[in-house]
Amino acid sequence: MKAPIAVALDAPDLATAKNWAVAVSPYVTTLKIGLETYLRDGKESIHEIRKLSDCDIFLDLKLHDIPATVIGACKSVAELAPKYLTVHASGGKDMISAAVQTLPNTLIVAVTILTSIDDRNLQEIGFSSSPSQSSIKLAQLAVAAGARAIVCSAQEVSEIRRNVADDIVLITPGIRPAGKNRDDQQRIATPQEAISNGADLLVIGRPITSEIDVSAAAKVISDEVNDIYL
Ligand code: C5P
Repeated sequence: MKAPIAVALDAPDLATAKNWAVAVSPYVTTLKIGLETYLRDGKESIHEIRKLSDCDIFLDLKLHDIPATVIGACKSVAELAPKYLTVHASGGKDMISAAVQTLPNTLIVAVTILTSIDDRNLQEIGFSSSPSQSSIKLAQLAVAAGARAIVCSAQEVSEIRRNVADDIVLITPGIRPAGKNRDDQQRIATPQEAISNGADLLVIGRPITSEIDVSAAAKVISDEVNDIYL
């Protein structure tokens, strides 16, 4: 059984992204194409990866602009029909709802507070409340604007779940199995913690893609996640 994991294909070239896609596809539901791959390889990256994998496509462009520009950006990727497309919740209600209305068949995912941001970083950019309080507020705003999915840290996912409807998909990056390097992530959790706290989909990049055997790494984490459901 495939585990509810989106593997971040943040690769140095398209050939590597494709190799990773093939390696992890038997074990995970979703492949995430983000800025590194999309800005270099564009739509071809999605077309090529789709030829190799039956996984859902998560287009992680983290759009954050005025509503008219976001509408244009959504139209530009409409032909790709990704299952998920990210926007920053801090772009505000009008921007989020513009994305939702432009792509009615894609789950617009609102990113709350990045998991790389801690209390101090958040204060520096002018937020007075904590990362978890700010994330909850942004999640509620995004859902009110029509977003059907939220990105947040696994540390606040249970609190967000209490504040949004059951059918809102809660997605958690910043996943680090015990003992793994945290890299640039701050608000981290293990895969088990994220699932137990109520995450629906775990975003995992380097803990899988920095391993020599990417396929084996994906299988180990997927088995661990699936074991929680047994
Ligand atoms: O697991 P790793 O840290 O390598 O993967 C992080 C991935 O998740 C990156 O592709 C990053 O863009 C994405 N991310 C995100 N939201 C966050 C933090 C990371 O979508 N809050």
